[in-house]
Amino acid sequence: MKDKIFLNNDFQFSPEFDEKMLSLKFKGKLEQVRIPHTVAETPFNNFSPEIYQKVSLYRTTFLTQPSWNSKRIILTVDGAAHMSEVFLNGESLLVHKCGYTAFSADLTEHLLPQGKENVLAIKVDSRESNNFPPFGLVIDYMTYGGIYRDVYLEIKNPVYIKDVFVKTKNNHFESEITLSGPAEGYTISQRIVSAAEEDEGIAERISAQISTGVPGEKVLTSADADHIVAWSLENPALYYAITELLNEKGKIVDTHKVRFGFRDILFNEQGFFLNGKKIKLRGLNRHQSYPYVGYAMPASMQRDDADILKYELGLNEVRTSHYPQSHHFIDRCDEIGLLVFTEIPGWQHIGDYEWKEQAVINTRDMVLQWRNHPSIFMWGVRINESPDDDELFKATNAAARELDPTRPTAGVRNFAHSHFFEDVYTYNDFSHTGNNDGVRPKKEITKSSGGYMVTEYNGHMYPTKSFDDELHRMRHALRHAKVINDVAARDDIGGSSGWCAFDYNTHKEFGAGDYICYHGVMDMFRNPKLAASVYQSQQSAEIAGDVLEISSSMDLGEYPAGTREAVWIFTNADSVKFYVNGTFIKEFTAKDSEYKSLAHGPIFVDDFIGSRLEDDYNIPHKKAEDIKKVLHAALWYGMNNLPKNVTATALKLAATRTTNMRQMMEFFSRYLGNLGAGGSVTTSYTFEAYRGGKLVKTVVKGPARLTQVSATVRRSVLIETQTYDVAEVNLCAVDEKSNVQHYCQEAVLLETEGPIELIGPAAVSLKGGTAGAYVRTTGKAGKAALKITDWCGNTLRVPLTVKIQRV
Ligand code: GAL
Repeated sequence: MKDKIFLNNDFQFSPEFDEKMLSLKFKGKLEQVRIPHTVAETPFNNFSPEIYQKVSLYRTTFLTQPSWNSKRIILTVDGAAHMSEVFLNGESLLVHKCGYTAFSADLTEHLLPQGKENVLAIKVDSRESNNFPPFGLVIDYMTYGGIYRDVYLEIKNPVYIKDVFVKTKNNHFESEITLSGPAEGYTISQRIVSAAEEDEGIAERISAQISTGVPGEKVLTSADADHIVAWSLENPALYYAITELLNEKGKIVDTHKVRFGFRDILFNEQGFFLNGKKIKLRGLNRHQSYPYVGYAMPASMQRDDADILKYELGLNEVRTSHYPQSHHFIDRCDEIGLLVFTEIPGWQHIGDYEWKEQAVINTRDMVLQWRNHPSIFMWGVRINESPDDDELFKATNAAARELDPTRPTAGVRNFAHSHFFEDVYTYNDFSHTGNNDGVRPKKEITKSSGGYMVTEYNGHMYPTKSFDDELHRMRHALRHAKVINDVAARDDIGGSSGWCAFDYNTHKEFGAGDYICYHGVMDMFRNPKLAASVYQSQQSAEIAGDVLEISSSMDLGEYPAGTREAVWIFTNADSVKFYVNGTFIKEFTAKDSEYKSLAHGPIFVDDFIGSRLEDDYNIPHKKAEDIKKVLHAALWYGMNNLPKNVTATALKLAATRTTNMRQMMEFFSRYLGNLGAGGSVTTSYTFEAYRGGKLVKTVVKGPARLTQVSATVRRSVLIETQTYDVAEVNLCAVDEKSNVQHYCQEAVLLETEGPIELIGPAAVSLKGGTAGAYVRTTGKAGKAALKITDWCGNTLRVPLTVKIQRV
């Protein structure tokens, strides 16, 4: 029999709840939907949260199967926003008051006799007026509505394994097995095998094998495992604990498979250690929302986000702000080696007694439901940025420690010297304003011993749209660089998670007036802003690819009075050679970066002239250097705003008749202004990145002659397993040299071919030169494509394949 019977594909939905819908006799017309589902598809921006606040109903019917005789039938909903009530055949079975944790109902006693049709109905209340976390005050994110994670049935024998929790220390493991009830005379057989081998069907090598009796509802096992490989960021080796329950006759009555890793974590005042190795945490915060559908995205999209964070942003950590997130996302973090800090739902507000009781329940549910994921290294057991509440937070700490003694607790604060019951003091440090230190020292925030981590920075201090001007986008990137540089420099800080990975829809109180918080280093479609390359360039090329980004399009007309403040190089290469119109100017190395604590800090381009004054005008080297100094200062600060030491050099040049104003103007125009070149003579700027002496990436900036849309897709094969699949197509206006055209805001038309449909509108405008489109499968296999027509009528087809592999 199948492990899980997914019900995702066959729900009827009503945006309004009516008791009559609970009955089989209800014959009204309802919308046919599939899970993950949102109660309201939204526009990209400019919409009110009211559109998803409603009491709605999901309903499905199924027959009581002959094979279910004397079995237990368990329903699980992995996530529904926000209050759910489960009804079977009109009878209320449970109410769950959290939009971010799973809930299960034992349907057995309420099923109709064999062959009869049952009505399963789930009433979902997504109103923000609910009295449980995170509600109570206005929140800086939208909370959406609907059943947005998987729904499934499990068919079990009367006694079954409810849960197995695996704890490890080096190669030793202990497991805590919880049974559904007393099982006298039963035995447990457990084995540990490599997950990779088991998934390929070749798990011949058993790392540990245990057989034991069943003393009660809890069974503890322990052993030393052989040949194990520790779970690490570089090699995230995973194992299964396969636990079998055998009855008195030795027949297997239940099998439970849980995936885990062997790894040791320690977070103390010296920092964070994984398997004894110190790791500076370098992460960002992730909200689980997407354009148009809010929280409702299937497994592959959740997995893509983990890949984006590790491979496209080069991070080693993510904070699931501000609630536990999909197991599909965390599973992928387990598989690729991305550390996760996860926390209970909440945002600044603490409610009444009932509200607090729910916060403790949420802590228990979070730990119980996510504790086997090796990527999770710490539990957030405070309401994000809430005031102190000793009684509540003593209770949440106690709950987390009781259910999982292996991980440190933490709780995110926005003020110093708060009462401290956790193991790690976590603090949102928004002190960086562009020209000061990136972070404050730990001792200014807490006198406590134990670990310390910065869990947010930047965010609202510098909202940045991908269509903001170049200077703004550059300053955004440098703020991120400054904070991670200063975190890297400090031994008292274990690491940091910046605010945040992706832009997100929010309430009007926090957004830019259009219900979007533009705080991401990527936009809502996961297109990178310049700041993304700060992170990406800290990662090795094997993981993040060859990174070479230039902060400027090199157009002076972008700046008031043509005063271009600076050009920065972001790269993970050994060196970057810079050429103007093919003439070599300078080779920059990582050592040239002023961000000394980063392996690959941004590099300031301090020379656009090279030796051209010497070569073109025979000016002696020292004099040429003085002239260059004045010319560059004129570019960066403007002629009327030269720093004092540069003015002194300019006066010296005039006094010694080395040059004169007219000639300086000529130099400026020839080497820096590039004015009046006209015709076919245009300036091109070439940057070549080298690693190990080999050219690995080239960027050429120059006037765009042709702008067209490029489309990329992370997965071109979409697979329906437990539900529909979705892929994102990222759209980008690029010139003929692949440079993003940030001010191309044109519209593109989207059409689907084959068994897929669009999520969102059929025409989207580029924003900051980029946009995205989502396509969803429709239950049929075959060849498909997304056809994109640009503003000139050019078309582009993104070929896709849809497969059906039901589980
Ligand atoms: C923090 C908060 C985040 C987000 C951020 C914006 O105070 O925890 O959820 O609102 O500010 O910078």
